[in-house]
Amino acid sequence: MILDRVKPLDAILAAARKKSLKRTMSGLQLMLFGIGCIIGTGIFVLTAAGAQKAGPGLMLAFAIAGLICIVAALCYAEIASTIPVSGSAYTYTYATMGEFLAWTVGWALVLEYAIAASAVSVGWSGYFTGTILKETFGVELPAWLAGGPLVFGGVEGGVINLPALAIALLVTLLLVIGTSESAKVNAVLVAIKVTALTLFIALTLPVVEIERFNPFLPAGVFGGWGSGVGAVGAAATIFFAYVGFDAVSTAAEETKNPQRNVPIGLVGSLLFCTLFYIAVAAGAIGTIGGQPIMGLGGVPFPAGSEELARQCALPQHAAALVCSDEALAHVLRQIGWSSVGNVLGYAAFIALPSVILVLLFAQTRIFFVMSRDGLLPEALSRVHPKWHTPHVVTIITGSVVAFAAAFLPVGKLADIANAGTLYAFAMVAVAVMVLRRKRPEVKRPFRVQGLWLVAPATVAGCIFLFLNLPSDAMIVLPVWTIAGAMIYFVYGRNRSHLGHGIVEVVDNIEGDEALVPIDPPRS
Ligand code: ALA
Repeated sequence: MILDRVKPLDAILAAARKKSLKRTMSGLQLMLFGIGCIIGTGIFVLTAAGAQKAGPGLMLAFAIAGLICIVAALCYAEIASTIPVSGSAYTYTYATMGEFLAWTVGWALVLEYAIAASAVSVGWSGYFTGTILKETFGVELPAWLAGGPLVFGGVEGGVINLPALAIALLVTLLLVIGTSESAKVNAVLVAIKVTALTLFIALTLPVVEIERFNPFLPAGVFGGWGSGVGAVGAAATIFFAYVGFDAVSTAAEETKNPQRNVPIGLVGSLLFCTLFYIAVAAGAIGTIGGQPIMGLGGVPFPAGSEELARQCALPQHAAALVCSDEALAHVLRQIGWSSVGNVLGYAAFIALPSVILVLLFAQTRIFFVMSRDGLLPEALSRVHPKWHTPHVVTIITGSVVAFAAAFLPVGKLADIANAGTLYAFAMVAVAVMVLRRKRPEVKRPFRVQGLWLVAPATVAGCIFLFLNLPSDAMIVLPVWTIAGAMIYFVYGRNRSHLGHGIVEVVDNIEGDEALVPIDPPRS
């Protein structure tokens, strides 16, 4: 059987009890933490790709994706408060559905965290090149250094995205020397992001022209499975704008009165972002218009495609929202608020690297836990003697993130990240249901009301969004999973610590893990 080797929950809970972090966070703090992780490239940059897929229907897309994330967030909150140890969806799956599925989830989380970090790096690069270099210093970066090659859907004349490569490597360096984001820094960055977006809304909404929303759904609601267009196609892409809230659910164990505050923090931050995003989309599209550039047969050119890049190079599309690399700053400049557009660009320039940091940090910790479980080489979990960070895994991950950021366009990276994330979210929803059935008596500091509606809705929502991704992004998940399964059977399965009868529960990288010998499971 390959679905054996379930990590014993009692051993995990015993280790978690020893750790017992102080409950210090309030609902509001949790909400701020959430907004800090969530707002990033999705709204600042992907608004352009979303408009190319759905036109004004982008507003509907934000609502659909937000709703699916809210139900997923509730599932995360319950399981994170029940099994409060490192490893996120990977550990939850290990404790409920066994090692093989846990491995596939951990493997998919690489897409969620590492590829998402690449996407945010490319998003940052757009603002750096536009606002900082061009608008502030009057320097135009040569096309070959400003984006990946056209064959990957990059820019005309592009070879490498140097700023994206550089920021990914810089953040990697910060993580190696032990930088982590403090609550204070997070609060400042949240304030910067929210102020910038509020300014955007305040300046655009009053001058919205209703006719700009017509036609509201130029590519329809459903563009067809795998087409990646229409309102639901856009929802599948801008789902990226909400990714990161799962980091909040892992703070459930540090929250005061979790039954009340966890839903306030999680649902509150997601609701806040959803409303904010819809208002931003309305402001952007209602002022300068956001109709897609259509190809033959009235179908929008795929976002991030070679054809669209060529269209965007034409003078008549120079000012189009769907062609901009720094969508929101571009809108403000177009409506005569150039200086505020630059301020918004500075906000993105300052705040986006912290999103890269959180994503890369999460990725290294997942790898760290997987290597502590014996499923990846032990060398990956080596901790630096001076900096006390898992430097080996951080450097390897950061290099891969930088490489992907250097050559691929933001929309493609975001779609691939979404594919992995949707799989992980669906598995978490299944894990919560399995745990309710198998271990109803286990203490759940936060319990979802109406779980038997919420969890199936999460699974259905994730499958629905997945099927509406562009087919090239969709195909990445099965290919990636098959590659991962081969690695598991060639490497991990024989070396798994659980397979050798040892349960490891990792609480932090300093090595506070509990080693619990058990009867070896049958393999
Ligand atoms: N939600 C994060 C962003 O949009 C990943 O950048």
